[in-house]
Amino acid sequence: MTLSALEVNQLKQAPAVDGVLPVVLSRWSARSFASRDVSPADLRKVFEAVRWSASAYNEQPWRFLVGLRNSSTHKKIFSTLIGFNQGWAAAAPVLILGVANSKFSHNGSQNAYALYDLGASAAALTLQAASLGLTTHSMAGYDQTAARQILEIPDSYVLGAVIALGYQGEPSVLAHQELIALETTPRERKPLSEFVLFAWGEPANLG
Ligand SMILES: Cc1cc2nc3c(=O)[nH]c(=O)nc-3n(C[C@H](O)[C@H](O)[C@H](O)COP(=O)(O)O)c2cc1C
Repeated sequence: MTLSALEVNQLKQAPAVDGVLPVVLSRWSARSFASRDVSPADLRKVFEAVRWSASAYNEQPWRFLVGLRNSSTHKKIFSTLIGFNQGWAAAAPVLILGVANSKFSHNGSQNAYALYDLGASAAALTLQAASLGLTTHSMAGYDQTAARQILEIPDSYVLGAVIALGYQGEPSVLAHQELIALETTPRERKPLSEFVLFAWGEPANLG
């Protein structure tokens, strides 16, 4: 029996941890999208959150190509996705490609932190979206060479992930059983002891 969208959203929630931002615990990456569009006002809020992200030298190296449903940019981004992602992302009302300028504007030298900053800004985007009741789903599964060409992205820009944005839909809209199974499986995470260290090989004892 397929779960409802509400039930799926419940089972994807991280367990409550006192003092952790509720939006951090409630965000998850849906593959089912409702037909509802995202308003320009909400899109604006999502990118305001990007705007106030930190970046090396305050370079703000990120650029986001935003494809709204039925636009040529949506079609172009969609055309670069691998088959698996095309199998669910077609219904996303917004497809976004994040890229970052790999050169500092003040002196043209290499910015080794451009992708780091793009990723940090994308984290702000996803959390702001979640706080507005939207879902985001990042994708590395796309053809970067094709995307650079079809979207006319200059050589000095490095490509990040494609992000599908919209409202979570009923899991039954998904095309096949494998996608429904992924949509209805609880999220899993490593324990802190695997990635918070007081020294290499020594898990941090945080009580
Ligand atoms: C950079 C990046 C690339 C990803 N690429 C894909 C992808 O190509 N296809 C896909 O279905 N999910 C993709 N994901 C989603 C991850 O599988 C998902 O974030 C992870 O399983 C954790 O689940 P959660 O976001 O619901 O917490 C990607 C996520 C990130 C951050």
